[in-house]
Amino acid sequence: MNNRGKTALVLGSSGLVGKELVETLIKQNTYNKIVLLVRRPIEIINTVCEPHVVDFDHLENEEVLFQVTDVFCCLGTTIKKAKTKEAFRKVDFDYPVEAAKLASKQGVEKFLIVTAMGANPKSHFFYNQVKGEVEEALNKLELPSLHIFRPSLLLGNREEFRFGEKIAAKASYIMNLFMVGPLKTYKAIEAKKVAAAMAEVASFEATGVHLYPSQEIERIAKRKRF
Ligand SMILES: NC(=O)c1ccc[n+]([C@@H]2O[C@H](COP(=O)([O-])OP(=O)(O)OC[C@H]3O[C@@H](n4cnc5c(N)ncnc54)[C@H](OP(=O)(O)O)[C@@H]3O)[C@@H](O)[C@H]2O)c1
Repeated sequence: MNNRGKTALVLGSSGLVGKELVETLIKQNTYNKIVLLVRRPIEIINTVCEPHVVDFDHLENEEVLFQVTDVFCCLGTTIKKAKTKEAFRKVDFDYPVEAAKLASKQGVEKFLIVTAMGANPKSHFFYNQVKGEVEEALNKLELPSLHIFRPSLLLGNREEFRFGEKIAAKASYIMNLFMVGPLKTYKAIEAKKVAAAMAEVASFEATGVHLYPSQEIERIAKRKRF
């Protein structure tokens, strides 16, 4: 038992990384309570979890739920699912930034977010540009402790079928064998490793802004203590 009276809030807990993260946090046993903000009802997997169905367009109505120690953001969508750039931006930029503002107001200690490899506000690719912009906006909030995880292609069992990712994931099992030296950065990574690294980092006493490229995520996940 390692309960230090900390509490957490997770956004995106029904996703590939988010689900792994919640399971890891439960096993880690550091948090008294794990608040899950979801847009539709979910199964409660442990009594420590406290799911809340909320309207993400009005997160400000849920301000009190942000009275936690650490906030984890695993939100994300795809252009295919979102259908428009605006709708994509809402999930990958607006919601995380609003969540971080509320977290900051409530005095949260750590804010941890998954963006993506290649995040760059000046990128010619819309996806990387939005990921870069969200990082930039979070940086400006001057949170006491901001942790940004930039994984490469995520591997894991996704309920939803994503053709492009499925092909890329299959190819990556072979490609990963050749990803040595500087190419290691591009190696696909299992979602559960991203979750493990997030849980591990949350247990550090580190202030300021920290960026974790995929290779670093792998390294932290390997040495996890939980
Ligand atoms: N896929 C990759 O290879 C890859 C690579 C690098 C980085 N990333 C990034 O890593 C992060 C996590 O990825 P993932 O694959 O775990 O994501 P995911 O499985 O698609 O899960 C996304 C989460 O965001 C929630 N969400 C999506 N649209 C929403 C909306 N309109 N309102 C409220 N919640 C919404 C989903 O909730 P529902 O269950 O209700 O839909 C889900 O909990 C994302 O930011 C992604 O861009 C992904």
